[in-house]
Amino acid sequence: MYKSKITGLGMYVPDNIVTNNDLTKYMDTNDAWIRERTGIEERRWAVPGDGNTTATMGVKAAKIALERAGLGPKDIDFIVFATLSADYYFPGSGVLVQEMLGCDTIGAIDVRNQCSGFVYALSTADQFIKTGMYKNILVIGSELQSTGIDKSTRGRGVAVIFGDGAGALVLSRSDDDSEILSNHLHSEGKYAEELTVKVPGSLHSPVKLVEDWDPNDLSYYPYMNGNYVFKHAVTRFPEAIMEGLNANGFTPQDIDLLIPHQANLRISQFVQKKLKMRDEQIMNNIQKYGNTTAASIPIALTEAWEQGRIKRGDLVVTAAFGSGFTWGSNVIRF
Ligand code: ACO
Repeated sequence: MYKSKITGLGMYVPDNIVTNNDLTKYMDTNDAWIRERTGIEERRWAVPGDGNTTATMGVKAAKIALERAGLGPKDIDFIVFATLSADYYFPGSGVLVQEMLGCDTIGAIDVRNQCSGFVYALSTADQFIKTGMYKNILVIGSELQSTGIDKSTRGRGVAVIFGDGAGALVLSRSDDDSEILSNHLHSEGKYAEELTVKVPGSLHSPVKLVEDWDPNDLSYYPYMNGNYVFKHAVTRFPEAIMEGLNANGFTPQDIDLLIPHQANLRISQFVQKKLKMRDEQIMNNIQKYGNTTAASIPIALTEAWEQGRIKRGDLVVTAAFGSGFTWGSNVIRF
């Protein structure tokens, strides 16, 4: 078995900053409510015509990660692309990245696991390197969510949370002590409808939506049972982290930096308290970007690395929980 390590990190977010106060132009909300409940102060929303798509943002993040890894598009053997907001219903956005970057005709897959998407994507890439099948894999998380949310007061419980952006990393075969130590992945599909967009889907096709057009049918917007999701999240996050730590003989105090999926600052604070971790052990940047779903972990990883909060040899743990429900963790000797 081979080992894999992170050799380059990159991120990209649209220029357009939308503050909580800006949101009051669209809906009945206020800065205090959003900050108190979520910790979010602002998010990035792409502007129509600015050239940002889920794939193009992923490419921008990937180019930075590749440069930092000292590799070019021809060195990449495979692409794993995590998103819930793919450019098309099909094909996935990974193939668009293959073309835009000018990679050889390598394989590309999309991982559709929403907020846990990047944890699943990293785990997927790790398996391909461990078996020796590939040496360098581009792992991308990218989301253009602002085009699909209900920005009226009706959708405020969801709309204020989500942002646009992309993060990427290069995972390469490791010949030193750096490695992905473990991946733990879970799902519980009985809760699929607690956090969902039902249309488009084969059960609820756009054709049927147009045929039976009902202005009160909002199934093409994200639905989130917020309180319910919150309660599960605060249980599953610590579970996933402890599962990873226990598998490797570590305790929460051994973690140099925890990168939780940036779902809600209150969730991260709850996890920190439960695991008795110090402030400097946890990365939080939801204040600036909101919840960027599959992009939030690679964006946070990149920022942490750029700020010097992660260095070679550190114990880094990622953890996520979200729609599915799905959850999991990666334990990384960086
Ligand atoms: N501005 C002002 N008021 C609002 C807003 C808003 N943006 N949104 C809702 N309200 C109102 C509601 O109408 C409600 O009013 P009422 O009491 O008069 O009916 C009141 O505020 C409380 O609403 P709740 O939904 O109960 O608010 P809650 O405290 O649960 O916070 C939140 C909502 C922030 C969404 C929280 O439930 C949460 O963070 N949940 C988890 C989110 C999460 O982790 N998702 C997983 C990842 S996402 C993914 O996988 C794609």
